[in-house]
Amino acid sequence: MNSDVEIAGDPLALPHLLPPAPAHPTTVADFAGLARDIAADPDSWAPLVRYDATSRWYHRLREVPGTPDSARPDQSFHGYQVWLLSWVPGQGTGAHDHGASFGLLTVLAGELTERAGPGAARGRRTLTAGTQRVFAPGYVHEITNDALEPAVSLHIYFPGLTDMPMHPAQRSAVRLPVSAHQPCPTAWAERS
Ligand SMILES: [Fe+2]
Repeated sequence: MNSDVEIAGDPLALPHLLPPAPAHPTTVADFAGLARDIAADPDSWAPLVRYDATSRWYHRLREVPGTPDSARPDQSFHGYQVWLLSWVPGQGTGAHDHGASFGLLTVLAGELTERAGPGAARGRRTLTAGTQRVFAPGYVHEITNDALEPAVSLHIYFPGLTDMPMHPAQRSAVRLPVSAHQPCPTAWAERS
């Protein structure tokens, strides 16, 4: 049987015909690969990590603005942000979504717990180091450190996170009221 290469020719032999490599990640797989690359290079993030028992700690590792293309909206690049977060035992987010952004969470160290879905039936996932989760816009979840050791996670938002609406607490734990539609840095600071 003839192979595709025998029938159509080897495209790798004609590099000038290949589409140019994108300057930035644009697909979920690209962003997952970016997160794995960062995770595999602890020198790039471990020295930056701080733990704060009084307030959630976060650090923006990278922000790449979008480049709209009004003539070809389908070719617009929407930009992204890369955040480094730490979690001491007991810290959590409260239930929230990510506005119009997709999110990709990668646990770099320790263990986190994700709860998603309505009411008592909310699914519970234990996220260990190396675990990746992808969230579509509108996805509601809550992340907590229910373990006994601190944790560190990497979060990529594409497009960059501009709004992180908080949702009413859906479990018995007492949470301070948080106003909706706070920009993410404020929301993170107040979500401890
Ligand atoms: Fe989230």
